[in-house]
Amino acid sequence: MSREPDKTDLDTGDIDLETLGEDVPLLEGIRTTRAIRRLRPDPVPPALIRKVCEAGTFAPSGGNRQPWQFIAVTDPERRAWVAERYRKGFHDYIAPAVEAAKDPAFPEAGRRMQRAAIHLADHLHEAPVHLFVAGFKRRGDPQTQALYPAVQNVLLACRAVGLGASLTTLHRSFGPECDAWLGLPDNCPTCALLPIGWPEGRYGRPPRRSVDTCLHFERFDSERAAAGRPRR
Ligand SMILES: Cc1cc2nc3c(=O)[nH]c(=O)nc-3n(C[C@H](O)[C@H](O)[C@H](O)COP(=O)(O)O)c2cc1C
Repeated sequence: MSREPDKTDLDTGDIDLETLGEDVPLLEGIRTTRAIRRLRPDPVPPALIRKVCEAGTFAPSGGNRQPWQFIAVTDPERRAWVAERYRKGFHDYIAPAVEAAKDPAFPEAGRRMQRAAIHLADHLHEAPVHLFVAGFKRRGDPQTQALYPAVQNVLLACRAVGLGASLTTLHRSFGPECDAWLGLPDNCPTCALLPIGWPEGRYGRPPRRSVDTCLHFERFDSERAAAGRPRR
């Protein structure tokens, strides 16, 4: 398939889930995976949720312990429960940044990102899948670092099959309440919430600084790094 698959392909039966996304070149997929926060409310087939989570299970983990657990919340009332709390936590969090963005010198790209993140927070209940990623603790410590490779694999798989997704963590502002509500045991907290759905827009290359500002051979080069230092 020369274009990205979408929901129409599934509806018309033009493609099957087995082959969907299997032909996206790996590096091109990596370079064009970005936060897709504007999602259509159309449902996502459970088999497709399974497919992107299966990609997650191919991530590395310490000792190959594979601590991840994926919980896909799709019921509208349950999504509304999450969205109501996320929206509040998000607006509290972003308020200072929204204030800072009133400065004319604030970069336009930052404002665009804020708008997209606010849109997601205000429309989270419409995202057809709220995919929570949780993981078993080890020796009492959360294994968040062991979960992020799996999270990234899911995001990449979403890009491959034509789904929109983003990585969010703001649900941690009501983390213990959310984890209990999901039925998770105390030793298996969530680390991420991936709202997933069919994208309103298209995938594309995200804005990134050149690798030449962050790749060093043999020793750290401060001038090289200064050229690409984060703005804020
Ligand atoms: C650890 C982490 C936490 C994040 N938390 C949130 C979040 O709570 N809400 C949100 O909208 N985006 C969140 N993001 C997404 C980032 O804002 C996004 O990856 C970044 O702006 C780059 O977006 P782009 O790939 O579209 O350029 C998070 C990303 C990471 C890596």
